[in-house]
Amino acid sequence: MEKVAKLIIDGREITLPLIAGSEGERAIDIRALREQTGLITFDPGYGNTGACRSAITYMDGEKGILRYRGVPIEQLAKSSSFVETAFLLITGKLPTRSELTRTSVYLNDFSILHENMKAFYQNYPSKAHPMGILSAMVNAMRSFYPELIDIEEEMNKTYLRIISKIRTMAAMAYKISIGQRVVYPRPDLCYCANFLNMMFDSVVVPYRIDDDLVQALNVFWILHADHEQNCSTTAVRVVGSGKVNIYSTISAGISALWGPLHGGANQAVIQMLERIEKDGLSIATCINRAKDPEDDFRLMGFGHRVYKTYDPRATIMKEMCDIVLKKVKQKDPLLDIARKLEEAALNDSYFKEKNLYPNVDFYSGIVLRAMGIPTNMFTVMFAIGRLPGWIAQWKEDVSDPEMKICRPRQIYTGNRLNEYIPIGQRKEDDSVC
Ligand code: CMC
Repeated sequence: MEKVAKLIIDGREITLPLIAGSEGERAIDIRALREQTGLITFDPGYGNTGACRSAITYMDGEKGILRYRGVPIEQLAKSSSFVETAFLLITGKLPTRSELTRTSVYLNDFSILHENMKAFYQNYPSKAHPMGILSAMVNAMRSFYPELIDIEEEMNKTYLRIISKIRTMAAMAYKISIGQRVVYPRPDLCYCANFLNMMFDSVVVPYRIDDDLVQALNVFWILHADHEQNCSTTAVRVVGSGKVNIYSTISAGISALWGPLHGGANQAVIQMLERIEKDGLSIATCINRAKDPEDDFRLMGFGHRVYKTYDPRATIMKEMCDIVLKKVKQKDPLLDIARKLEEAALNDSYFKEKNLYPNVDFYSGIVLRAMGIPTNMFTVMFAIGRLPGWIAQWKEDVSDPEMKICRPRQIYTGNRLNEYIPIGQRKEDDSVC
């Protein structure tokens, strides 16, 4: 196979090297393009741009494949735990028994928050979105835990400190928002059980930990743990490339995840399903509105930049809906609407032609609702899950000798040279008030 690409520009031929990944995907290495031709590439949304080499996550959007460090997502969801998967993503290997025990000891040691951090929560407006609070709190960790020493052992502790504290921060935000006493982490509980207990235990109604719900949460977080170069991970890599500290970098990832086209879609899906139920909208109306280019209504939880087939995470999440709803002995009318919407969309030529299938967010909200997680915490749940991925990608980025500060170029379309006009000589423009 050719090792170079030939490009003819203004009659001059230039040769650019081709590079290949371990799964055979190929790219034109354009690093010498501007120097050789004066031209840059133009790719808004980066759909054709490889921004890095990465050995963390492999996705094949045409075949619906997702693997962390080579291990299929289906195997991890069936047999792993969230903590073990986090270890795999960050270190590149599955932990031995003693490594896993050491990790759990650190997660326990780091699980409580500096008491002064509570004051932040108490002074936020009661209607503040938990994603805004979480992003600010993670950024504030730089001031509360400044000891970032650039040696591997200390950095490993820093990663575990963030992974451990983020769930305490999230649960604390929820408890304070509903005016309840904060529940502290317990040393006898695993990562997921501890989170559920901090969310739902109360002095008057003790929370009964259910192994099946703990397992469902493990699976939920495993499915979200990484997804290669998506919007928030790219934010992490871009912000991290300026060599800012890891807390501020992760905080940027959380902010990027908040958007409804990205991690905020899980909240948007439930809000859409609730609106369909409340307003009694027919499935056909929703499908027609989603297809109408004049209408900005989209079928939330459908479509993906990379997957052009069923998102493998959605397959697992859909199965979990049944398991969790059966466990909590609930029937969720939104699940019926979701199933009907999915069936109608999958049989509709618009969705078929554009390869729009359910993504991870389509069924994840139903699983979270069944666990008792409030809708405005859904994206926070996504963020806790994605944290190991952000850390792994940041770690890979800062140790990659090829990486530089991210600084794209642009095609300038503004005015050409304009002379400065002193204020006294400028004409009033009546259209501007
Ligand atoms: N409903 C209706 N039409 C859609 C949808 C949808 N959910 N998604 C894409 N389309 C149409 C879109 O209008 C466009 O049509 P046309 O070619 O006629 O202009 C075409 O499909 C391509 O869409 P796009 O927006 O150009 O594709 P993209 O790759 O830039 O966007 C996406 C991907 C996920 C932002 C988009 O599919 C979307 O907005 N989906 C709904 C939000 C959502 O579920 N987001 C969660 C993504 S998965 C979680 C994560 O990893 O972030």
